[in-house]
Amino acid sequence: MTRVSDLTPFQKRITEKSKLKNSRIILSLDPTPSHDLKKFAMNSINQLQRHVCAVKINFHLILPFSATDLTETTELAHSHGLECIADIKLNDITNTNHIAIQYLMEMGFDAVIVNPLMGKAALKSAVKQTHEKNCGIIALTYMSHPGAREYYGAKVFNQRTGRIISMYKMFLAMAMDAKVDGIVVGANQSDILREISHVRRIPIFSPGIGIQGGRIDRAIKNGTDYFIVGRSIIASANPVKEARKFQRLAVPY
Ligand code: XMP
Repeated sequence: MTRVSDLTPFQKRITEKSKLKNSRIILSLDPTPSHDLKKFAMNSINQLQRHVCAVKINFHLILPFSATDLTETTELAHSHGLECIADIKLNDITNTNHIAIQYLMEMGFDAVIVNPLMGKAALKSAVKQTHEKNCGIIALTYMSHPGAREYYGAKVFNQRTGRIISMYKMFLAMAMDAKVDGIVVGANQSDILREISHVRRIPIFSPGIGIQGGRIDRAIKNGTDYFIVGRSIIASANPVKEARKFQRLAVPY
């Protein structure tokens, strides 16, 4: 178990918040375009904040929202004691990443999900930039959708060692080396999750719960630390009831 003194500021905050909220659920605020988006975001945070430790915001809101809308959303989430994660799976040259991350941090995001495909140097630079502002980077390692196998499971030639390895293993090594704050591994990728959780020393964030087939009880056994849940809560007839159900399964250690 990692000592509290070894945690990065983002890891420390999300650990504390999950204890305060008694929940390791991260709410994926993913409305469909037919929603009144601002109302949806604000109402969802107000209604569900007691059952989750963070909100994750994806293109569903990042594209249509203005900077003011996003800032108001992160401010509301913070006022309820939640962390805010930007899920843009960032993957560009260092200069572009830097500007995107700067905007996101200015709008109040505490962590940004990135794609390690950007390469080791760009990943390290993103980590340095966010850590200077006490924010964090979460790196994709094995995604939750069925097509993930085609790419994250592909074999690649590792130039440094001269060996053939799986892409996800290379991503994991890069993430550890860059000292990211967490990695994303699909809850429904049981074998991979189990394998990674045995060797990793960083928190695992898992989407793919519910609608994508993953189960919290199984993911806990396989090593997930934080559970990202979207449609199974927000698209249900009773989001508060569903969130409470997920929360009960995902209380902190
Ligand atoms: P659902 O509705 O399936 O939503 O609970 C899941 C949310 O998470 C995103 N997603 C991922 N994000 N790595 C990520 O960083 C993944 O492997 C992954 N799989 C799903 C998805 O876009 C939605 O916002």
